[in-house]
Amino acid sequence: MRILFISSEVAPFAKTGGLGDVSAALPKALAAEGHDVRVVVPYYRRVREAGHAVELVVPPLDVKLGRRILRFSTLRAPLPGTTVPVYFVECNQLYDRPSIYSGDGDEHVRFAFLGWAALRIAQQLGFAPDIVHSNDWQAGLVPVALRTVFAWDRLFAETRTVLTIHNIGHQGTFAADVLADVGLANAADQLHQDELRAGRLSFMLTGLLHANAITTVSPTYAREIQTPEHGVGLDAYLRGRRDVLFGILNGIDDEIWNPSRDAYLPTTYSADDLSGKEDCKRALLESVGLPYRRGVPLFGIVSRLAWQKGFDLFFEVLPALLRQHDAQLIVLGSGEKRYADLFTHLAKVAPRKVAYRNAFSEPLAHLIEAGSDLFLMPSRYEPCGLNQLYSLAYGTPPIVHKTGGLADTVRQFDPRTGRGNGFTFDHFDVRGLKWAIGNALDLWQHRGVWRRLQENGMREDLSWRRRVKEYTALYRKLVP
Ligand code: ADP
Ligand code: GLC
Repeated sequence: MRILFISSEVAPFAKTGGLGDVSAALPKALAAEGHDVRVVVPYYRRVREAGHAVELVVPPLDVKLGRRILRFSTLRAPLPGTTVPVYFVECNQLYDRPSIYSGDGDEHVRFAFLGWAALRIAQQLGFAPDIVHSNDWQAGLVPVALRTVFAWDRLFAETRTVLTIHNIGHQGTFAADVLADVGLANAADQLHQDELRAGRLSFMLTGLLHANAITTVSPTYAREIQTPEHGVGLDAYLRGRRDVLFGILNGIDDEIWNPSRDAYLPTTYSADDLSGKEDCKRALLESVGLPYRRGVPLFGIVSRLAWQKGFDLFFEVLPALLRQHDAQLIVLGSGEKRYADLFTHLAKVAPRKVAYRNAFSEPLAHLIEAGSDLFLMPSRYEPCGLNQLYSLAYGTPPIVHKTGGLADTVRQFDPRTGRGNGFTFDHFDVRGLKWAIGNALDLWQHRGVWRRLQENGMREDLSWRRRVKEYTALYRKLVP
């Protein structure tokens, strides 16, 4: 099958979170199954500045989007370690900005144009996609654009569309008067009329009403978003389309996230021989200036600092944990100030126990996964979550709130049966998280059982090789 995959992030070029990892690993896995996959992403300033080798495939071209004339060219580079082409939309007017997501007044244009340009690139290459796979709100207008503005082009006559929801908390909702700016002035009759009357245009809603199929990144989240509690206003629409809504769990790229070959680690290790993990712990502690003390459990966190991630529980839980237990904590993450302030404060009052790095660092993220003894992820909601999967693969049992993809991938360890791969709590509150941490610390004392817990996670097949089949089965159902 020919698949055009459109995303606002693709690792290692542009990544702020899990979307970047998935938009690299899923196309790679699809290509390994023999499909012709092309990925399209903006040429952000950071991609240019990182100096990736790219070649020009289509020279500058002026495109009219609404009232604007936008000049763009198409650059190409392979996804590292593969032959999958990544097409970069170079349009400096829109993407030469300090960050991937801008909060500027033309954010709707920046991402409407991504979808628009992706279809133009397909035209220029004569690439007739069987599937156009859009990701999140940023590519949400593509299905309706195919049905209207691009409907004349027979290249797309057989094309079917899939929209993957990675996070329904971000919907790309703008005032309805942006319609002309996003090139849909003549397509208003195809849009949701009540929404337009209410003065809104939502990229996500438009996408999920027009896509031939909708997926989200775990089965539990697929159910949750159909409820008022988790649907963030879109639950009724999702219930209306439940026949074409599927939950497919994310996998991990085990060429990149694999303790037995991870180039960021001082010593590699595997489920058969975990000795290298202790070296990683030593190196990790040393790299952040904390003392190594044998037998003291080390908690790790790698995360965007956002409300979604459930860190509000930490204000009460972490000070108590550090007071009552001999434990250490390393946090890597940036985002909302109140959480950054909390971690900064903890590192100040407990300098031998806590280290905080307010940064985005791929090497340190890998070292934390490997060097920590436990991984903390108490998310309020979590569409899938990748860090708990990385933790499982690295023998670092995760402590998670039982929600979304966390509920689908982490199973409470039962010392009597030896089954389970981590620690879960049902209710999102301080008691729940304290209980789960207490549980983990009790088990930590029993080294033999702990080893079993680690192995359970490390021996699971969490790879994309397995998950990708669910996507291809879905694509096949859609193509005529
Ligand atoms: P989300 O997509 O909601 O942020 P995921 O768990 O799916 O959550 O994926 C997060 C990804 O982003 C992981 O690959 C994680 O390692 C990475 N990440 C998050 N914050 C940082 C950071 N500060 N430095 C390096 N990597 C980070
Ligand atoms: C989103 C979600 C996260 C998911 C990722 C990749 O950012 O917050 O749970 O793992 O997308 O699908």
